[in-house]
Amino acid sequence: TDQYLVVGNPINHSKSPFIHAEFAKSTGEVLTYEKLEVAKDGFVDTMSAFFAGNGKGCNVTVPFKEEAYQFATTLTERARLAGAVNTLKLMDDGSILGDNTDGQGLVADLLDHDVALTGARILLIGAGGAARGVILPLLAHQPKEIIIANRTASKAVALAESFNVHAKSHQSQITACEMCALEGEFDVIINSTAASLSGERPAIDADTIGSTTVMYDMAYGVGETSSNQWAREQGAKQVIDGLGMLVGQAAESFYVWRGVRPETQRVLSALRQSLA
Ligand code: ATR
Repeated sequence: TDQYLVVGNPINHSKSPFIHAEFAKSTGEVLTYEKLEVAKDGFVDTMSAFFAGNGKGCNVTVPFKEEAYQFATTLTERARLAGAVNTLKLMDDGSILGDNTDGQGLVADLLDHDVALTGARILLIGAGGAARGVILPLLAHQPKEIIIANRTASKAVALAESFNVHAKSHQSQITACEMCALEGEFDVIINSTAASLSGERPAIDADTIGSTTVMYDMAYGVGETSSNQWAREQGAKQVIDGLGMLVGQAAESFYVWRGVRPETQRVLSALRQSLA
């Protein structure tokens, strides 16, 4: 049987085994998918042994996404630009493909919520790995502009510059702005920071939120995230948390491995119920 894994440290709370078991059931694909905690210095040895056996593919999470990027023999463009790999696939010729499905997971969830990206004015908060990973998939939908704001402004500037050329080729533009100097309302605000996980919210001005603004927080948990609660109180049209992005990236990984697109809504509802 084809074997799949999710590896990380810690990995105990991963929902990926449940999600992929449901995908396998609904598509009729025959496979196993398990979680494995890997020692901080054990990633390469574990992956080498896995792919030498019956291993066909692997999801990679904190703290191994950069190591997975190095481990891959070839990279997709979206993985290369993300600088991180969350999906490894054993190819027929024995090489290991490194991909990153996080950004597509976000975009798919936004589109599932009927959020228009083409022509949109997008604020991306945060300039770490999570932000980097979603920029190319967002640009593919030709937003009017993406503005990056980060607590440490210099990181936002560097990140925007590194995507300048790609933005132009998608008839879009990407710039950085001080968190406190943002002007005007945004169509879509994406919080890529983990601020909500400690009950905080990014220090953006309430004027960035208008009655047509959609707030997307990559975090999720029991109840509304602190950033989403704040955005809703400022009059945002819609607030969305990151549970759908989690399921979306899983669906995209499943597609990369098996060539079959699983349906996501039922799994998402089940996860939502388990959080309630
Ligand atoms: P990830 O892969 O989740 O993006 P990361 O690469 O460590 O993790 O980046 C974390 C991002 O969240 C950074 O943009 C960080 O801001 P700094 O660059 O100023 O450190 C941001 N961040 C983390 N906690 C935050 C908080 N409480 N408020 C605002 N921004 C926060």
